[in-house]
Amino acid sequence: MSLKQNWSDLEIRVRDLSPSEGLAFLADLFPGKVVFSTSLGQEDQVITQLIASQNLPIRIFSLDTGRLFPETLELLARTEAKYKTRIKVYYPERDSVETWVAKNGINGFYESVENRKSCCYVRKVEPLKRALAGNEIWVTGLRAEQSANRSGMKKIEWDESNQIIKYNPLLDWSFDEMIAYIDGHKIPYNTLHDQGFISIGCAPCTRAILPGEDARAGRWWWEDSKKECGLHSK
Ligand code: ADX
Ligand code: SF4
Repeated sequence: MSLKQNWSDLEIRVRDLSPSEGLAFLADLFPGKVVFSTSLGQEDQVITQLIASQNLPIRIFSLDTGRLFPETLELLARTEAKYKTRIKVYYPERDSVETWVAKNGINGFYESVENRKSCCYVRKVEPLKRALAGNEIWVTGLRAEQSANRSGMKKIEWDESNQIIKYNPLLDWSFDEMIAYIDGHKIPYNTLHDQGFISIGCAPCTRAILPGEDARAGRWWWEDSKKECGLHSK
């Protein structure tokens, strides 16, 4: 069975490669079939720099939920300008958003975990499925340190819901290592990070955290759930 067919053999080949080597290796093994999803978070900005600096044939895309912070969209434009690249932006289906808002209200995601998850589905998960269709490798900025759920992940995983191999090149990077890389390479980052925001998603569902709080405490802070939106849950 070839590496392409057997993702666990691929895991063995890739797990000891640096992020930059891993990205280059996969771009070569799966020509034209490797895509990277960026939320413009710090992890993602590192990966964009790694792709751009090696000029790797990996398509970069972002999911604009319609509820992002203006600072995030401003960073998207700044990133495109810095790396002279285009980030493909996917939007939710208009009819689905209109139906959801008509039923639940514009901010109906605060009312229940079920509502919140269905909003995430319409605004993120469905557009993600369209973005991944036809590809073989999905690169993400997940880090094990981010949450208990993520600490059990591997660098290469099979994503059952999207039927695609997922590559998490920064999985074993620490927060400090990432910040040092961003500083050292003058990588553009979201100005909200300077105001106490760590993990940044949609504006109504993200807030700054206090020193000592969990990195994801500012996401869906009113919930006692696993704090995942469905992009990465199993
Ligand atoms: S989330 O599931 O809670 O929203 P998080 O913000 O930690 O995820 O980001 C983890 C990874 O998911 C990012 O590195 C990125 O690959 C992907 N991701 C999350 N949100 C988006 C988005 N809006 N657009 C593209 N990719 C995203
Ligand atoms: Fe909707 Fe909030 Fe999920 Fe964004 S994070 S898609 S606004 S529920």
